[in-house]
Amino acid sequence: MKEKILAHRGVSLTAPENTLPAFAAAIKQGLAGIELDVQMSKDGHLIVIHDERVDRTTNGKGLVRDMTLEEIKSLDAGTWFAEKYSGVKIPVLEEVLELIDNREFMINIELKSGIIQYPGLEERVLEAVKKYNLLDKVIFSSFNHYSLLKIKEIHEGAKTGVLYYAGLVDPWEYGKKLKAYSLHPFLPSVTEQMVKECLVQGLQVIPFTVNNKETAKKLIDFGVEYVIMDWGQIT
Ligand code: G3P
Ligand code: MG
Repeated sequence: MKEKILAHRGVSLTAPENTLPAFAAAIKQGLAGIELDVQMSKDGHLIVIHDERVDRTTNGKGLVRDMTLEEIKSLDAGTWFAEKYSGVKIPVLEEVLELIDNREFMINIELKSGIIQYPGLEERVLEAVKKYNLLDKVIFSSFNHYSLLKIKEIHEGAKTGVLYYAGLVDPWEYGKKLKAYSLHPFLPSVTEQMVKECLVQGLQVIPFTVNNKETAKKLIDFGVEYVIMDWGQIT
């Protein structure tokens, strides 16, 4: 089953979410890959963090887009989770790509452009992935589907994944319209028939987020490519 699991924000059960220790744990456990979230700093750096604000996962306060990289790097992103992670920093995307170091490992980069628009986010994320020669191992996803179109416009061969919550009718039609590689539906909207039809139509399905082994197994039997596993591990 490990080869079908993408650790949601890294292995966030045992390490602070979206940090290098959480991603390193996914590599160590032999999982298929990771899902991570990217926002942008005031000075245009790619910041790996889920929320638009730093408040929940660091000792700081404020919006990522209002802070420079230097300010973001001065924050502690580990102590809130556990004392042993005190001093862990928020990573930039390049640090994560460096950690992957070209091994067989999937990276699902979620562009967090759904709430705040970050001019140039798509260009910069693509540039970073190309720099590390990881294009074939990356799926770019977003709830903001204009970001996905932008990615395809810049690099047609890039793999995009359509994130959505609703119980869409014929979601494969929409996925094909966007020339997406995969659909990333919210778990409750996934059915066996839907997965099978997506595969017939040439789209992979990667549901989020799964939190137990039985559900993961059922989805894998349906034919999903990966499951985005909450806490990043099988419980
Ligand atoms: O990419 C799947 C999942 O991460 C989407 O929701 O809010 O956890 O980023 P969220
Ligand atoms: Mg995410």
